[in-house]
Amino acid sequence: MEELLRSIEKKVRPLIGLGKVADYIPALANIDPNQFGIAIYSNDGKLYHTGQAKKNFSIQSISKIFSLTLAMKHYGEDMWERVGREPSGNPFNSLVQLEYEMGIPRNPFINAGALVVSDMNHSRFASPHYAMREFIRRLAGNSKLRSDKVVSNSEYEFRARNASMAYLMQAFGNFENDVEAVLRNYFDNCAMRMNCIDLAKAFSFLANKGYSHHSGEQVLTRRETTQVNGLLATSGLYDEAGNFAYRVGLPGKSGVGGGIIAIVPNRFSICVWSPELNESGNSLAGIAALEALSESNGWSVF
Ligand code: DON
Repeated sequence: MEELLRSIEKKVRPLIGLGKVADYIPALANIDPNQFGIAIYSNDGKLYHTGQAKKNFSIQSISKIFSLTLAMKHYGEDMWERVGREPSGNPFNSLVQLEYEMGIPRNPFINAGALVVSDMNHSRFASPHYAMREFIRRLAGNSKLRSDKVVSNSEYEFRARNASMAYLMQAFGNFENDVEAVLRNYFDNCAMRMNCIDLAKAFSFLANKGYSHHSGEQVLTRRETTQVNGLLATSGLYDEAGNFAYRVGLPGKSGVGGGIIAIVPNRFSICVWSPELNESGNSLAGIAALEALSESNGWSVF
């Protein structure tokens, strides 16, 4: 497997230069674009990696899966009264559907949906970010993980779009807590720094019927796990979800830090990272690497 990973790295590294690192969050703009890492964690606990798989990066929207998981554990089916389960066909930070759909975001992975989910977690935990951080540390088996304050403060300073969504949802009665406090926690979660190995391990429960071997906990039920994977396959890459299904064929979730996680149900959890993004805000070399990996192993679920 590691030989395959090395040959994939060789194949996709030349793509670096064709994308653009995220700069709408100024603290992310100065990252060295010439980086690539990948890690695969199998259900029997084997780890394979190559490139800069041990280098920490900003997980950004990948954190939305942790938030959704915590909310599902607590709210169950009731949460779907406040957020939908359909692909949006729009960019992750779009506002257009939110008004004519009465403040109910299309799905939990676009920013509006993740903000509602953060609002739910805010109602439940006294210290929502610390509860999330503990959860992530446990799932990754890494007690040192933390959020980057410089990045979360930069996100807060340039929060206009996210704040607009949250206040619009508040106007529709779909927000319970103080918007600014929820935004702070949402940004702290997005600014968690992790590496490919941490993330592949943290999402192993999605490849393993909800059970995380190394933390020894049933994180979600078997049914909930298939539900989350279904949502990842249809909405995890925003307006590029169709292209990702076509090219890779796995449930996946991207972040503007350049990370993408993907799940081979009942077998592997994968994380790839390369900071340059395509027009949809997804890692350009990362998608190419996952495409090559899925194709070589016949992993598409379709
Ligand atoms: O709220 C934001 O815009 C960022 N904290 C997260 C966006 C993101 O990662 C979109 N994913 N590709």
